Amino acid sequence: MSQKISLTRYLVEQQRVDGHIPSQLRLLIEVVARACKSVSQAVNKGALGGVLGTAGSENVQGEVQKKLDIIANEVLIEANEWGGHLAAMASEEMDSIYVVPNRYPQGEYLLLFDPLDGSSNIDVNVSIGTIFSVLKKPAGEAGVQEKDFLQAGKCQVAAGYCIYGPQTTLVLTVGDGVAMFTLDREQGSFVLVQEHMKIPEDTKEFAINMSNMRHWDAPVKRYIDECLAGAEGPRGKDFNMRWIASMVADVHRILTRGGVFMYPWDRREPNKPGKLRLMYEANPMGWLVEQAGGAATNGKQRILDIQPEKLHERVSVILGSRNEVERVASYHSAV
Ligand code: AHG
Ligand code: MN
Ligand code: MN
Repeated sequence: MSQKISLTRYLVEQQRVDGHIPSQLRLLIEVVARACKSVSQAVNKGALGGVLGTAGSENVQGEVQKKLDIIANEVLIEANEWGGHLAAMASEEMDSIYVVPNRYPQGEYLLLFDPLDGSSNIDVNVSIGTIFSVLKKPAGEAGVQEKDFLQAGKCQVAAGYCIYGPQTTLVLTVGDGVAMFTLDREQGSFVLVQEHMKIPEDTKEFAINMSNMRHWDAPVKRYIDECLAGAEGPRGKDFNMRWIASMVADVHRILTRGGVFMYPWDRREPNKPGKLRLMYEANPMGWLVEQAGGAATNGKQRILDIQPEKLHERVSVILGSRNEVERVASYHSAV
């Protein structure tokens, strides 16, 4: 019988055999995984745990907070603040950064997260998740400030997500490909189920919220029109469409079987560069996708090269199967 490899063992081997991660980063990832197990428990209880519904508050981006947005945020903070591996955290659900309190030792890492992605799906029992990104605090100055977080996605040292679906699954990169772990509830541990995930370069499946079609820019409209034209159109093949409205779930499908995901800029709020957030949605997902052989762009620029100017900055996102993403990018450069 082949031996099961736990997340702990995978990380120890990444640290010891391959030298990819220092011990503090290993600890950080383990703590995030443990927090995700707690969130998974809460998600699973649903109405029985009293965790459904809205919290009656709004976050810094003006979105109504669900109870689980707040619960997941608290779980991640409480799990991570005392271990000595972090200097500060930032989250979709907090206006500004959360500096590790003085009573705990300060580490050299910065953790960003979307504690609960796909909030509109919580109450309808559809897959949701937690997305995280890890940066190193710039050396030099004592203390930590918001500007320390404003690093391009290519500076990430770890990134991943945990999806709470039919299974609870953690997907992780530390820059050595993408590994997938499924939660074994009896054992209480994440078990490696796939290493070196690869996104097929071509696809016949796209994910976009079609209800926004009339607001799109010409290059996005052209790409989708050509997909919709199917076998009789310029692409010469029929396309399928999926839109779960949880980025974690859409990206998970793409990592598993290919596809292209788009949440482009649109005319509804022309001054915003997009809906999704750069630092804790697009960057970690962009790096995972690239590590699996795919591509991620805002149409004009590689996501991971964008220099953030604000913690909660938004961005247009096109990611997934490499040839499709490059095609959408080429339509942007053609205008
Ligand atoms: P969040 O729940 O963290 O605010 O993120 C929701 C995001 C993303 O997960 C999803 O792809 C998108 O919003 C769905 O947006 P629409 O409801 O506009 O389709
Ligand atoms: Mn989100
Ligand atoms: Mn969220």
